[in-house]
Amino acid sequence: MRRAIYPGSFDPVTNGHLDIIERGCKLFDEIIIAILVNPDKQPFFSIGERRDMLDQVLKTIEQQNCVLRVDDFEGLLVHYAVAQRAHAIVRGIRAISDYEYELQMALMNRRLEPSIETVFMMPAETYSYVSSRLVKEVFQLGGELSGLVPPIVEARMKGKVSQK
Ligand code: PNS
Repeated sequence: MRRAIYPGSFDPVTNGHLDIIERGCKLFDEIIIAILVNPDKQPFFSIGERRDMLDQVLKTIEQQNCVLRVDDFEGLLVHYAVAQRAHAIVRGIRAISDYEYELQMALMNRRLEPSIETVFMMPAETYSYVSSRLVKEVFQLGGELSGLVPPIVEARMKGKVSQK
C-alpha cells in the first residue's frame, strides 16, 4: 500500500493539478491532496471552498484503483506526512524555473524527515504554463479560463465576484 501526499495551496485547483493527480494514480495506491492552511496569505477561496471544489473535480478524473482523499494541514509538511503514514510527497514541475525552489524544498524536507521521498512529476505540455496565480490574474482582468481550470472552478470564481 503506497500512500503519497500531494500538497499545495490549490487556490484554486487547475487542470494542471488534476493532470499531476492522474499521473500520480499510476504510481500510488492512495493520494492525499493536502491543502496548506497558511494564515499569512489572503486566499481567493477559503479552505472549505477549496476542499469542496477538489472533492467535486476529483470525481471527474481517471483515477484507476487509486484512492483520492482531500484534507488540509497546518505546520510542517513532513510532520503531516508522517502522521498520515505517507511514503512520498508528490510535486509537479512545469519548467526549469520551478526546479530550484522545488529542489530546495525537497532537500529540506529530506533533511527533516529522511524516510519520506519527494517525487517530481511533469504535467502535460498543455499545462506547462498554468498556475493558480496566473489563473486568478487572468480571471481578475476578464480573460477566458476555459481549458485552464475545471468548469465548476470557473463558475465558482464568477459566482464569488458577482456576490460582491
Ligand atoms: O501550491 P504551493 O503554494 O506551491 O505549495 C507549497 C507547499 C504547501 C508545498 C509548501 O509551502 C509547504 O510544504 N508548506 C508547509 C510548511 C513546510 O513544511 N515548510 C518547509 C518546506 S521545506
